[in-house]
Amino acid sequence: MSAKILFVDDEPDLKSLISQRFRKKIRAEEWQLFFAHNGVEALEKLKENPDIDMVVTDLNMPEMDGLTLLSELNQINLPFKTIVISAYGDMKNIRNAMNFGAFDFLTKPIDFHDLEITINKTLRDVQQLKENQRLRQSEAWAREQALHLQHGLQDLKKTQAQLIQTAKMSSLGQVVAGIAHEINNPVNFIYGNLSHVTDYIQDLLHLLHLYQQYTPLSAEIQTEIEAIDLEFMIADLPQILVSMKGGVDRIQKIVLSLRNFSRLDEANIKPVDIHEGIKSSLMILQNQLQTRAARPEIQVIEEYSTLPLVECYAGELNQVFINIIYNAIDALNECNKQRSLDDIRACPLAITIRTFLLEENSRVVIQIRDNGLGMTADVKDRIFEPFFTTKPVGEGTGLGLYISYQIVLEKHGGALKCFSEEGQGAEFWIEIPIRQTRSELDVI
Ligand SMILES: Nc1ncnc2c1ncn2[C@@H]1O[C@H](COP(=O)(O)OP(=O)(O)OP(=O)(O)O)[C@@H](O)[C@H]1O
Ligand SMILES: [Mg+2]
Repeated sequence: MSAKILFVDDEPDLKSLISQRFRKKIRAEEWQLFFAHNGVEALEKLKENPDIDMVVTDLNMPEMDGLTLLSELNQINLPFKTIVISAYGDMKNIRNAMNFGAFDFLTKPIDFHDLEITINKTLRDVQQLKENQRLRQSEAWAREQALHLQHGLQDLKKTQAQLIQTAKMSSLGQVVAGIAHEINNPVNFIYGNLSHVTDYIQDLLHLLHLYQQYTPLSAEIQTEIEAIDLEFMIADLPQILVSMKGGVDRIQKIVLSLRNFSRLDEANIKPVDIHEGIKSSLMILQNQLQTRAARPEIQVIEEYSTLPLVECYAGELNQVFINIIYNAIDALNECNKQRSLDDIRACPLAITIRTFLLEENSRVVIQIRDNGLGMTADVKDRIFEPFFTTKPVGEGTGLGLYISYQIVLEKHGGALKCFSEEGQGAEFWIEIPIRQTRSELDVI
């Protein structure tokens, strides 16, 4: 590709002189020359040919002199360089021109050999300039692409995380709802009949009593009465019925909690009793909290304030409670592995759940604290990232807190904070507005 050079001079003969002198280069298409008679024309030529590589300009010209042209050229953000040509000894103008950003200068009368050397040197510089610019551009492009990719990857991770968790929770919700339904029917069957059984047994016992009173008992019956310990049976039977009723009551409560947890029918915002949600989450996790072979019981200390109903997605908020309490249980189990029995007796494993009102009663806070191992500052900084987990492969997906964060912040306009230091346990602070404003609901 030929180098494009613009000569600016009011000298009428210059064009033919230069074209003649450098004809070989022009013919070989090494150089392509442009000519202008003053600054104004030069600027027009540059506008028509923005890929001009260098400008060689006289300083004294009509209409627009070389210095004014130079200052105009400074405003143009194109990779070209300017050489000025001035009368011999006109050092003042030359110095000015150099200050205005001229790359080099030549004096009149023009020495063509000198001109060629200067042009070549300047062209090399322009080449370098263009190369650098291209490099910078491609670097910027690569950076931009990398940023796009990074954003894309983040979005993808976010979507993937949400899909996995939604699938996990909705299938869990469905399973739980299904189990609740299946248990509920037979339990109702038992519950409904239990009162009849109680009545019938009362009647039968009364009848037995009458028989004993009015009918002489044969020896055989007397032996049988002793063999089955009828007296004890009569005393024990009502108690058995009471404890059976107690058991059925408990099953019914569990069913209620399971239903409360799954809340498949409550996909919308509703005013709910937050404590119900916490209790049913605890009920679901009951098994993890009880004493196991390798572990003492985890105490749950519930310190609830009187709270108004809170407008929220109850099912999703339950997910948050489950995730955070589950993490606390994990942390306590981990802690337990590192402590002696005496240590544990001195300071039992505990999860404390507190609720209270904040800020002129406009928000509720649910604080969930454990006295487990806590976390390092590095871990704490990352816990809300999708897929961040410190648990062994297969045990943690690193989604629990990420999803909880989305639910609390994005779905409820609340806040989710974590306070923890290594060895000092961890505290999660869930803050939920009591009322969801119209605009927040619209976003959802
Ligand atoms: N109460 C806590 N005490 C100490 N570390 C915790 C506690 N809660 C969370 N963490 C840390 O935060 C990390 C991320 O928790 P998160 O619930 O998001 O994922 P996970 O529990 O590892 O996996 P899962 O997706 O199964 O919940 C945990 O791996 C753990 O290192
Ligand atoms: Mg978790």
